[in-house]
Amino acid sequence: MEKTEWMKNYLKTHNVALTGFMGAGKSTAAKMMSRMFDMKPVEMDALIAEREGMTINEIFAKFGEAYFRAKETALLKELSCENGRIISCGGGTVLRDENVALLKKNSRIVLLTATAETILERVKDSDDRPILNGHKDVDFIGALMEKRRRAYEQAADIIVATDKRSIEDICLEIAESLMRLEECDV
Ligand code: S3P
Repeated sequence: MEKTEWMKNYLKTHNVALTGFMGAGKSTAAKMMSRMFDMKPVEMDALIAEREGMTINEIFAKFGEAYFRAKETALLKELSCENGRIISCGGGTVLRDENVALLKKNSRIVLLTATAETILERVKDSDDRPILNGHKDVDFIGALMEKRRRAYEQAADIIVATDKRSIEDICLEIAESLMRLEECDV
């Protein structure tokens, strides 16, 4: 079956969730997936920030990380009742087992990976990630990625490397891997 048609049917009952470290390309891939496969994009960080009327930095500074994590879980509860979405998770979303369980209800989890060098290149000019502010170097990023690797990999249904690849190529691989996961001929 042709990819677009297959995705259309698949999305009647599923969401696709993009996870991975900050700067792995989740937001960019979500935008492109939305365009390529007519999916409704959900940018978790942006939606939480909009609802709270604050930036992510402000939420962390004013209420702390635990508060932000609770907002992520509440949003995932909502999304677990919807379908047809391409969800760009925050980089820490799947570190909570509860969040993974909520995602697994109706989403396939796609882990996007990149080397610490690639991540640094992508995040170096933005200051909107409280966890990286003051730590934008390969050693810190590499160590935190390593600490999170197991949780990311355990949650993932599909793993897609993003280094030195076009966004179209990455999105096509996501769609093909989803089809393969559902045992379709590709
Ligand atoms: C976080 C990643 C961020 C955002 C918050 C915490 C993390 O999302 O949710 O700053 O713990 O990795 P992005 O991965 O979209 O930058």
